[in-house]
Amino acid sequence: MEQAVPERPYEEPRADIEELHEPVVEKQPEPVIEEEPALNAAEPEPEESPEAEGDGRMKAIDLIAPTRLDFLAEKEAAEEQPVKTAEVIAFANQKGGVAKTTTTLNLAVAFAESGYRVLCIDLDPQGNLTMSQGIDPDKVEKSLYDVLVNDMPISEIIVKREIDIAVASIDLAGAEIAMSTKIGRERSLEKALKEVSGDYDFVCIDTPPSLGLLTINALTAANKVIVPVQCEYLSMRGLVQLQNTLRMIQENLNPDVKIEGILPTMLDSRTIHAKEAIEILEENFGDLVFQSRIKKAIKFAEAPVKGASVLKYDSNSSAANYYRDLAKEVLSHGSA
Ligand SMILES: Nc1ncnc2c1ncn2[C@@H]1O[C@H](COP(=O)(O)OP(=O)(O)O)[C@@H](O)[C@H]1O
Ligand SMILES: [Mg+2]
Repeated sequence: MEQAVPERPYEEPRADIEELHEPVVEKQPEPVIEEEPALNAAEPEPEESPEAEGDGRMKAIDLIAPTRLDFLAEKEAAEEQPVKTAEVIAFANQKGGVAKTTTTLNLAVAFAESGYRVLCIDLDPQGNLTMSQGIDPDKVEKSLYDVLVNDMPISEIIVKREIDIAVASIDLAGAEIAMSTKIGRERSLEKALKEVSGDYDFVCIDTPPSLGLLTINALTAANKVIVPVQCEYLSMRGLVQLQNTLRMIQENLNPDVKIEGILPTMLDSRTIHAKEAIEILEENFGDLVFQSRIKKAIKFAEAPVKGASVLKYDSNSSAANYYRDLAKEVLSHGSA
């Protein structure tokens, strides 16, 4: 009695599996064989067919070709659609006081004004970007330190202000040493960003004034690098050093990263020195130098004290427009 019960269900599925297998084996090779010659023949065929066959009968390729072109057009249209994962821009220059933080925040807010979803990352242990949105880095409980060193999800340290900001704290200063023994230490930020890259159009990373592990993490996670340079104290040697670091990162960690542009900042257009500095920049870096210029304005020093971008602090000021213009220029490069 007990043995007879399991025997029946075992027999039935076996018959089903055999029936299913036969048609699958027969059908698979057919489309594969048809597709290969069709793809190869698609280009030369239209020229040959009118001469070779004048009987008006349509060949298989004529029927297939339009479908294939439609398919290609669809593919091209899909590529033109807005980015689905965030464009990651690192703001880097190992020199301090060149307006990295100012540029990261104000360009990010300019993108947000245009309707883009923006995340800022404060990768500088000094926490200036965090402060410039009115957040005290000393009172932050969870910061990028926890993300980079302890693999905390980055969503847990994002604070919402004018833009979303992944905050820094003072202990970020110890992150480079704490990360130094980690496997894949250069990719910690890149890995962390995967969690949220579908939620934003732009991720803007502020970096410390060095080419250490934190900056390397930023350049490894980035698609593009914007290099602010203060025209008054232009350091060509510093820029060459930065280019060498970037080349090393392209060769070893992130082949796709490239310089989006070099941005002349704190420009005092009245001085001859500043004009000369821009000429030197353009002679050496050509088209890499942005058309946009960020002129000197006291508002850039005032706004962070109020915990605001210049675009919020004085929306109609020309200072605010310098960064709106830069946003337009970056967007016109085909970012989003
Ligand atoms: N266009 C500008 N005109 C005047 N002051 C500026 C301008 N841009 C930035 N600053 C000020 O210069 C100082 C250094 O800028 P910051 O963005 O902190 O540089 P970095 O991040 O490269 O160290 C800050 O006090 C900032 O407010
Ligand atoms: Mg800074």
